[in-house]
Amino acid sequence: MKYIVTSALPYANGKLHVGHVAGAYLPADIFVRFLKLQKQDVIYICGTDEHGTPISISADKEGISPHTVVARYHASIKEAFDGIGIEFDNFSGTAREEHYKLSQEFFTALFEKGHIQPKTTLQFYCEHDKRYLPDRYVEGTCPKCGTEGARGDQCDKCGQTYETTLLKEPRCKICSNTPVIRETRHWFLHLNRFTDQLKEWIAHKDYWKENVRNFMLNLLEQGLIERSITRDLSWGVPVPLADAEGKVLYVWFDAPIGYISSTVEWAKNIGKPDLWKDYWLDPETQLIHFIGKDNIIFHALIWPAMLMGQNTRYCLPHDIPANEFMNLEGDKISTSRNWAIWVDEFVKVFDGEYLRYYLAANAPERQDADFSFRDFQQKVNGELNNVLGNLANRVFAFAIKHFDGVIDHMKLDHEAESILQEADLLVKDICENYRTYQVKRNVKTIIDLARTGNRIFDERKPWVMIKENRGHVQQTLWLCAALLQRISVVLSPIMPKHMLALREMMSLGSIGHWEDAFTDGKYVLNSVKPLFSKIEDSVIEAEYNKLQAMAKPEPTTEYQPLKPEITFEQFAQMDIRVAKILEAEAVPKTDKLLRLKVDLGFETRELVAGIAASYKAEDIIGKSVLMLVNLQARKIRGILSSGMILAAHDESGIHITMPDGGSPGAPVQ
Ligand code: MF3
Ligand code: ZN
Repeated sequence: MKYIVTSALPYANGKLHVGHVAGAYLPADIFVRFLKLQKQDVIYICGTDEHGTPISISADKEGISPHTVVARYHASIKEAFDGIGIEFDNFSGTAREEHYKLSQEFFTALFEKGHIQPKTTLQFYCEHDKRYLPDRYVEGTCPKCGTEGARGDQCDKCGQTYETTLLKEPRCKICSNTPVIRETRHWFLHLNRFTDQLKEWIAHKDYWKENVRNFMLNLLEQGLIERSITRDLSWGVPVPLADAEGKVLYVWFDAPIGYISSTVEWAKNIGKPDLWKDYWLDPETQLIHFIGKDNIIFHALIWPAMLMGQNTRYCLPHDIPANEFMNLEGDKISTSRNWAIWVDEFVKVFDGEYLRYYLAANAPERQDADFSFRDFQQKVNGELNNVLGNLANRVFAFAIKHFDGVIDHMKLDHEAESILQEADLLVKDICENYRTYQVKRNVKTIIDLARTGNRIFDERKPWVMIKENRGHVQQTLWLCAALLQRISVVLSPIMPKHMLALREMMSLGSIGHWEDAFTDGKYVLNSVKPLFSKIEDSVIEAEYNKLQAMAKPEPTTEYQPLKPEITFEQFAQMDIRVAKILEAEAVPKTDKLLRLKVDLGFETRELVAGIAASYKAEDIIGKSVLMLVNLQARKIRGILSSGMILAAHDESGIHITMPDGGSPGAPVQ
């Protein structure tokens, strides 16, 4: 049987952070390393997701081409993966030729079968920028939860996705103007046509993680709707139809096809261009998608439907282990606030495998997890060093001192034998847990194995027994070494380099197979050194402080973004003057308004100002303020108000601008 293991293609518009790694990459890499130890036929496929509006917005902002943005982040992401030993069989990108071809083929097959149909729809259009505003090109208030700053296609706060035109108070992301709604034609994937097939397919997925399966069953229950799969953009895969000028495929339509196009690229690169078919076209292949929980709908619903609608019989996803989220020091990771731990920076300070260990020990498998620097230090020092490293150190040191570094096998007494048998049962559990993506549990079991070794060493007191019974000591050492050997195999999917180092110290060499955990031989120690090193308090504190210092404050949603630029001439049209307040009184039956009489030097005026929440009438009589005097007069509460006082508003109240000097009527220019 063959396996295709994939991790969600990371967007090529940002760096890799620990949340990404914990959710979609490390669990997959561990699973693949495990399968390879089991001598399974597996390929691990990924690449960068190179379309979508955030990438073209970044390019617009920097005045460079999307290709340049993509190339930059592709390289940075790949380097970060290398830094923590995530080893793909292929790491491609979706802006490559092969991918365009295959994506268009996917569209065409679905279109020809009638699963994709065009429809005239409404779309925001910016008259200033003369363009449609798909997805993130528009921002506004979420129609569901009312949060400001919601994106055009989805609200980050409540997670709701919606048709863009439902967004309240929309603004163009480029120029901040309010867009208009225009007609445009788009192509829709009619998911309801796949309802029966999807239901039948899901019915056999009782082994799926509950969150994924329930999510899907819910969606199917609610009834599937059609989904727009094209956009008015220039960056993306062109829609392969004659009447679709200026339209590209929606990023979420083409991205998963990247799993296949990356495999095609892999086959070409290794000189066997047809080999990808052995994997993708075999219905028995176990296709396994590792993702974060925000990607479930695309992988468990839309993508399978896209595959079902092809002429080519691709294999369908076998499993979709979706992980929950990783928070950071108690707060949601946020790239815009720079509240994140960036992998490339982290591995400059710490060993990349320490990060793998920590993220595995603290994996967000069933619920959200939290990354904390203190906890990271505690796991590295208290578990890797004090438990596992300590076991290796003391056993090796003792064997070198008293047995010339050779721990020969000998028949074990009853106690030692039963401990070894228990350990072997645990190794079987560990195997089963890797199969079912339960890495967190495995870390615990593995450290417990090392704890058992330390306990046995303590209880059997080799430093005492060495004088009375060398055979007893030899058994103790051999048992501990046998535990270390087992650990060197079962921890290797998580910490491959350190486990190889451990094996080399025991002259065991690299691991050929999972069964290498069980060989009974003699252990010849060789160039023994400490396996791990501790992390100092000062280093952790420095990193923690750096994180806090680099974080940007939460953007307040109270304020609108800056207004569009105006010319000097536009500014000069405003006649702003110094005005001296002669009289002030509260407007009856209101608590916000004051009626003012002001001296403008050349005349006196009356106006109504909404400042009563912060200023009492008697406090401002005699004060000079700035006033816009050529504003069209209007009636407020029956009073003709001719002008406007300049004041700042924030959560602490209203703050009138008062000039320092300046006689009534002096112009502001
Ligand atoms: N780029 C997406 C994200 O980071 C994931 C794409 S997964 C794919 O959320 F299947 F579409 F490729
Ligand atoms: Zn605009």
